[in-house]
Amino acid sequence: MDGGCKGRSGLPNFKTSITADRFGDAAIRDDRKGISMRHLLTLEELERTALTRLLDRAERFRTEGAPRELLAGRTVLTLFFEPSTRTRTSFVLASKRLGADTLNFNLSHSSTSKGESLLDTLHTLEAMGLDALVVRHNENGMPAYLAQHANSHVSIINAGDGTHAHPTQGLLDALTIRQRRRDLENLHVVICGDIRHSRVARSDARALHTLGVRDIRLCAPRAMLPESPDDFPDCASTEDFDAALAGADVVIMLRIQRERMAAAQFPEAADYHARYGLDTRRLALAKPDCQVLHPGPINRGIEIAPEVADGAQSRILDQVANGVATRMAVLAELLATPA
Ligand code: CP
Repeated sequence: MDGGCKGRSGLPNFKTSITADRFGDAAIRDDRKGISMRHLLTLEELERTALTRLLDRAERFRTEGAPRELLAGRTVLTLFFEPSTRTRTSFVLASKRLGADTLNFNLSHSSTSKGESLLDTLHTLEAMGLDALVVRHNENGMPAYLAQHANSHVSIINAGDGTHAHPTQGLLDALTIRQRRRDLENLHVVICGDIRHSRVARSDARALHTLGVRDIRLCAPRAMLPESPDDFPDCASTEDFDAALAGADVVIMLRIQRERMAAAQFPEAADYHARYGLDTRRLALAKPDCQVLHPGPINRGIEIAPEVADGAQSRILDQVANGVATRMAVLAELLATPA
């Protein structure tokens, strides 16, 4: 029993966004009371010590490698209802590098295409000895919903849900920034692009704020700024990209999420690039050592000029590399038996 009406795909049809607040306390435990994490659904519930510990572990895995048998005998399955290149592949690599059995659930060849509910699919996989389910879905709250119904030995990891959260992206972006700048409290960070529809922006802002960054500026045309300031507590908003960039230490560029907009909302690409594209002229407004991040996939010539994406200040491929180490840290944290 799913407890939700079925959508066109035969999946539970979430008409409303299920927030982390509704499920977070029950679904996530951090180390505040010495309890290890079970799921990773959002970064909201991770306080600074837990978040820092994950980043430190990821950094050790990146520089020193990881014990290959750490997750021997564990089974990790990826279940993606939206396309992915970076997140899915890096979770697969991460779990293999830790010695886990790893499976990609192929939706088009599965019984979900015959109308099986997602909870029936979950419980079927659990019966085969699943330890962790890495899930991406276009509905806000679907990973939390699965976490609420998962057997007690199964961990649910959110690989991106709708416009809500992408916690491992928030972690890997924080790790990437921290590798060049340890004084996070003094950073001036600009996040520019389709903020309103961006789960990456939400998780990045949360991670950076938790780590002490005080100056986070969101920049976009009005229609892409957050609908409510409550969506991004402690962040400033502006439509003026040049002004936002003045003196910036980090700029995180985002693509326009066309899949989450009505066609009438699409800006014209050349107009958008003229006002919000990061090119070399604009980047010169930031500090000379400003780091340029983009979670990918990038749209060259729209939100970022090719010479910036491929330039000396770009950290885009570092983000990808850090994604594997970060996901290894998350899997180790959730699945490894404490020594
Ligand atoms: N950054 C990110 O989530 O990329 P993918 O959609 O390729 O996983």
